[in-house]
Formats: sequence, C-alpha cells, structure tokens
Amino acid sequence: MLRTVLLSNETDWPGFRQRARELLIEGVAPPEITWHTPADAAGDLFAASSHAGDTAAQPASVQPDPPATASADITTRPQPNPTSPLSVSPVFLRLCETVMLHRDPGRFALLYRLLWRLAREADLRHDPLDADRVQAQHMAQAVRRDLHKMKAFVRFRQVVRPDAPEPLHVAWFEPEHHIVEAAAPFFMRRFAQMRWAILTPERCVRWDGERLEFSPGAQRSDAPPPDADEALWLTYYRHIFNPARLKLAMMQKEMPRKYWHNLPEAALISPLAAGAHAASGRMMAALPTEPLRRIARTAPVCSAETTAMIADARDDINPSSSSRTSSIDAMRAISSAPLTALSALKQATDRCRECPIGEHATQSVFGEGPAGAVLMVVGEQPGDQEDLRGRPFVGPAGKLFDQAVAQLGWSRAQLYVTNAVKHFKFELRGKRRIHKTPTQREAAACLHWLESEIEQVRPRAIVALGATAARALLGRQVAVMRERGQWHNSPRGERVLVTLHPSALLRGDPAEHEAAYAQWLRDLSLANEIVGVSSADPLSR
Ligand code: URA
Repeated sequence: MLRTVLLSNETDWPGFRQRARELLIEGVAPPEITWHTPADAAGDLFAASSHAGDTAAQPASVQPDPPATASADITTRPQPNPTSPLSVSPVFLRLCETVMLHRDPGRFALLYRLLWRLAREADLRHDPLDADRVQAQHMAQAVRRDLHKMKAFVRFRQVVRPDAPEPLHVAWFEPEHHIVEAAAPFFMRRFAQMRWAILTPERCVRWDGERLEFSPGAQRSDAPPPDADEALWLTYYRHIFNPARLKLAMMQKEMPRKYWHNLPEAALISPLAAGAHAASGRMMAALPTEPLRRIARTAPVCSAETTAMIADARDDINPSSSSRTSSIDAMRAISSAPLTALSALKQATDRCRECPIGEHATQSVFGEGPAGAVLMVVGEQPGDQEDLRGRPFVGPAGKLFDQAVAQLGWSRAQLYVTNAVKHFKFELRGKRRIHKTPTQREAAACLHWLESEIEQVRPRAIVALGATAARALLGRQVAVMRERGQWHNSPRGERVLVTLHPSALLRGDPAEHEAAYAQWLRDLSLANEIVGVSSADPLSR
C-alpha cells in the first residue's frame, strides 16, 4: 500500500523526523512512501486524494528537536532485530537538517532511504562512496554554498518613512534553496542595531530589533530602488578594486553571474575588469624591481646620536635650549638647514638605525600635516607606495582613509597623519615588496620619534589605526576589536581613539566590506567633536 506523507512546509524537519520515526518502526519500506509539502501537493492530484491508510490526512505534527549533541534516536525496527532502535550520529542529523533545505523534492525520499538502509546495512556507515550518501553530501554542499552566497550578496537599501522613527533596510535576494530561515540568525547577529527585511520569492524575513518575523514570499518590485548608500558602496567598491588581483574566472566562481542582477556593484565589474589589464600594467611598471633608494647610505646612527639629533632638531627652533654633545657634529649638515623641529626630526629619522628596518627602506616616512593640527592620526608603518613617495598614507590604505576623511566632512589639512614606525618593513617575493608587520622591539625602538611628533604637534586627541599604533600610544597590548570605537587615556595623558587600520578593511572578507566600512566610519566619527564637525551619521552625508 502506498503511503503519502504531507509535511507542513518545505523545511519541516521536526515533522519529517517524527513521520520517519513512525514509518521506520512500522517497517514501511522507502518505495512505499511518497513525501509531499503543501507547495508540491497543491499541483499533485495523487497527494491530494485520500487513500485508505493514508498517513497524509494531517500535516506531520511538529515536535521539539532533542539536542543534537548525543547520538540521536531516530528509532526504527531494523532487521534482523526489529526491536532495537536506530541511533544516528549528530553529524548525520546535521547533514539531514541541511539536506532538508535543498530544493529537490526528492530530498525526503533520499533521507528516509538512508535511514532505512542505515538500520539494515551495517557497512553503509563506513562507505562514504555509497551513491545515496554521496548524493546527500552534494545536496548539503549546495545548500551551504547557497547560504554562503546569501550572506555575501544581500545588499540592503534604505527606506525612510516619515511615520517610522528609524529607516528600514530592505534587500531583495533569490536563493536557490529553502534557506531563508537558516540564514536569518546570521543577519540578526550581524545587523542587530538595524531594522531590516530580506525579501525573497518564497519567504521573507524581517528584524524589528527584537524579533525575527517570517512571512510569505514577495516580488522583486516590492524591494526599493537604489539609494544614496548604494552610491557610497559603489564608490567604495571602485576604491577597493585591485586590478592586479583580478582573476575573472575565480571571481565569477565566487560571485556567479546568476547573482549579478541583484548586485549593484556588478555593473562596475565589466568596465573595471576591462581596464584592469592596463591598470595592473601601470602598477607593475610603477613597482620597483629594486627599492629606489634616494637616501645615500650613511653610517648608522646609534641611540645616543639619535637623542642628540632630536635635541639638535629642537634647537633649530629654540636655539637657547641647546644641549648638544660632541657626538652630533656629524649632524651639523642637518641642523644648518632651514628647519622646523618637525622637518629636522624628519631628516633625522632617515638615518635612524636603531632597528634593522631602516637599512632596507628607500627612506623614512615621517608625519605630515600642520604643526598645530587638532587631531593626530597614527598608522602602523609606511607601505610600499609610501616608502617610494616619502609620504604617509598615499597608497591603497591611504585612499580608503582619504575617502573616510571626505565622508566624515573632515579635511586632511586639519590632521597630522603619521605612523608608529617610520620605515617600511617588507620581504621580497620575486620583484614585489610584501609588507611585514614590525616586531614589538622595532616599534618600541621607533616610539621616541612618535613621542617627539606628539610633543611638537600637541594635538587635542589621537586616532590609533590598528594594533601597532594603539600599542605604541597606550603602552600596552590592545585588543582592537574589543577596544575599538572608544576613547582611551594614554600613560602620557593623551586621549586616544582606537579603531581598525584601513588595511584590515581592504584585506577583510568582501562579504563584510560594506558593514565593516560603515562601522569604521562610526568609530572615526567619535573624533568629530575634535575636528569641529557636527555628529550626524557619517553614512548619511
Ligand atoms: N599603512 C600605514 O599604517 N601607514 C601608511 O602610511 C600606509 C599604510
């Protein structure tokens, strides 16, 4: 006799589990069961008709899941011992839960068949190449991929309603499988502070700040048109697009074309990719095969001499406070130039050899900005571009920083921008110079230069970009992710705002770029009061 089971919805795992348990106990073989959901039963006369002994008279009832930590009792009547229950591992249960989200209507039959066979075929557990097991694995993989894509490619657009206190962020997405419920907790955690809704053709989910609410599917036209945030996101995308890293095949694998029509940045891909070859050619041409050493190699400066150089530099603007030592005679050429203390310090750093980094760099990269800047911004160390040009934050991280500065309504002319370490540390990979993080010892050796800059500039506050800067300024290890977006007091009494380094954003997961950048802007905007800018949400500028 053919049994028909009607589950209550496409992802009715508790219902499936309960019915499977009952049917296994009854000893109903897989070919004797057809599985349906209301969606497919609607078009299926056979499922809708009533059969004698039909178990589909009621949708399967829903029971709470037992925790999947111990081996779970799916309870069947395996032969030859029909009374012993079938226990399946938590791993297998999780596989079943994932397969349940697949779009294939055959998934229920497959899972039931696997359970049935597990109870009867002792070897099945040890046969990873079994066709049913392989098929289940492929289906689970497809679901996981779909979940990953949804997390990566959902793009919210802001809807502002005069009657609503807060804007709603709405996204349109077309998942391949039944994953909306499974993906919702991720978005809830990720965008907990936002009010948002994700519309899909089959199911919608909405977060009101307290609860997730699910509702039937929607249409694409229900989603809002492009907004100002989107223009911002496109600008950001253009900035982070690195032509030298473009691998079109790889990119299309990661971001398959079928998602493009819902991705605003997809419109940029073709023009950016078309220009990528020429752009990366220019980048390669600009890269030195050997660092372009501008500074003549000179005798290394020892610590005592460095201290004297600082004194020397200070004397240049305040000759009465002279405290020279004979060891600085070699530096007279520096001090005789028409220098401010800062530019004297800058020249002095070129010859600093208190750690080995300076020996291999093109030149030192000293801070830049007005001596009376209200806000000082401290990065880690110059990068490749900065090393070549002798200026801080002029490479890719600097471009992102400039974008943030503009968006915050600040001007770089108000800022004194510098680094914790004054020389570029790198390792050569082929012809490329790859950034290496300075060691604590190296950063400590460089600290007095930064202290001298602070002393000269006397900013009202300092922004530490990343862990190296934060550690140098606060004199202790700083957990940037935990301590970001807050003001801290340095041992010297400076107010220090900690946030991420822009390179961390450039390196981060592309799926997280948009949110990470927005959070970074919010961190930085805490310094609006210092720069004299009103504190509106930087993203709404
Ligand atoms: N990263 C930094 O920390 N500083 C720069 O100047 C450039 C990149």
